[in-house]
Amino acid sequence: PASAAPAPGGDITISGVSLAGLAERYGTPTYVLDEDEVRARARAWRRALPDAEIVYAGKAFLCRAVVDWIEEEGLGLDVCSAGELELAATRGFPADRIVLHGNAKSPEDLRSALRIGVGRIVIDSDCEIARIAAQVQGPGAQQVMVRVLPGIEAGGHKKIRTGAEGQKFGLSIAGGDAEDAVSRILGQPSLELVGLHCHLGSQITTPEPYAQAVRRLVAFLARIHDRYGITLRELDLGGGFAVPYLPDDPAPSPAWFGRRISDELLRACDEFDFPMPRLTVEPGRSIMAPAGVALYRVLSVKRSGGQVFVAVDGGMSDNLRPALYGARYAIRMVGRVPSGPMRATTVVGRHCEAGDVLAESVELPEDVRPGDVLAVPVSGAYHVSMASGYNTTGRPPVVAVAAVGRSRLLVRRESIDDLLRRDVGL
Ligand code: LLP
Repeated sequence: PASAAPAPGGDITISGVSLAGLAERYGTPTYVLDEDEVRARARAWRRALPDAEIVYAGKAFLCRAVVDWIEEEGLGLDVCSAGELELAATRGFPADRIVLHGNAKSPEDLRSALRIGVGRIVIDSDCEIARIAAQVQGPGAQQVMVRVLPGIEAGGHKKIRTGAEGQKFGLSIAGGDAEDAVSRILGQPSLELVGLHCHLGSQITTPEPYAQAVRRLVAFLARIHDRYGITLRELDLGGGFAVPYLPDDPAPSPAWFGRRISDELLRACDEFDFPMPRLTVEPGRSIMAPAGVALYRVLSVKRSGGQVFVAVDGGMSDNLRPALYGARYAIRMVGRVPSGPMRATTVVGRHCEAGDVLAESVELPEDVRPGDVLAVPVSGAYHVSMASGYNTTGRPPVVAVAAVGRSRLLVRRESIDDLLRRDVGL
């Protein structure tokens, strides 16, 4: 986080709170979130696109406190399950600011969405149109958008690219599926089609793909207008805005994305003679990732095949990103002044797979030893939210720090009792 600062004794503080102290107090592994940083990033998005709706993608990380922060900062919330919806509902998050996504919404997801009264449901397949229409009562009772596939290749890894043909999300503009869905929705009196949505992918480092998407979507809006005589007023460009994980990674700002997207929207509306739609973006990672730090304790150190392996008390059960996407992290030791030089070290987890590697070739002190605390920055998004109980290990707690220099527990550690309680077999 921006508030990270070196402290005496080789420690690092965030918002004035010692990371070594947090590891001591809450145990390890533990995830720390800087509340001020989350709020500052939410505000940066609002400033970058003052006329747009900023909708936080809860899949990056969600808990009750985060629901409150997002609500207080005036953002909307993107959810994609009944679980995320019910979590938001426990805090009374305004339902009209909630967008429901999903390529396969379950009956439970839809029941929750309709009971809570979410503002928008984003249609991602033909078969859900009639299903949703049948469950809502009254003319135009539910506002929906169509998730289109603009045919744009963007994103940090193949597994998180969702804007091009040949993957499960969206309805193709080029293939005609998007237009079929539009005409089908228009034939359902209980649904009100308000606009188009697309999500290109994640960890996108430049605004260009968004500008391209704006053009294609506005062109499509104009075509819908010409064919069906309706003017759709909303354009949701999804999320995907990259953050730097390593010091040399690109660090695109919300302002840069915002400027380029706004410019292109003006230009495209002018060119296609279409009235300016209301813009929505759905940043997840960009708001949450840099605000989080993961803390681990070293359990063992060994040499094997010419490499130094430092094993910590977490791993792929709390951070799947290296194993899944080859994601890279910078790791630091905290809480002790090292004696001796640094050397290339492979930091691994405790799980029963050779692929359970958190970081290859990071510089750690030569004297790193069991009991030392390691901190992994940029861990706020898609770590805890993708955590598993692999090897029957409990998921880590989440702790918040705020400007007052205090910490508080947001989500407690999952205990072995928690894990065993679900196993009801005889
Ligand atoms: N909107 C929709 C419809 C999405 O599917 C997503 C992310 C977002 C917004 C937010 O994207 P963001 O701004 O966070 O990039 N687990 C992967 C990322 C998967 C993103 C899935 N959808 C990772 O750890 O890199």
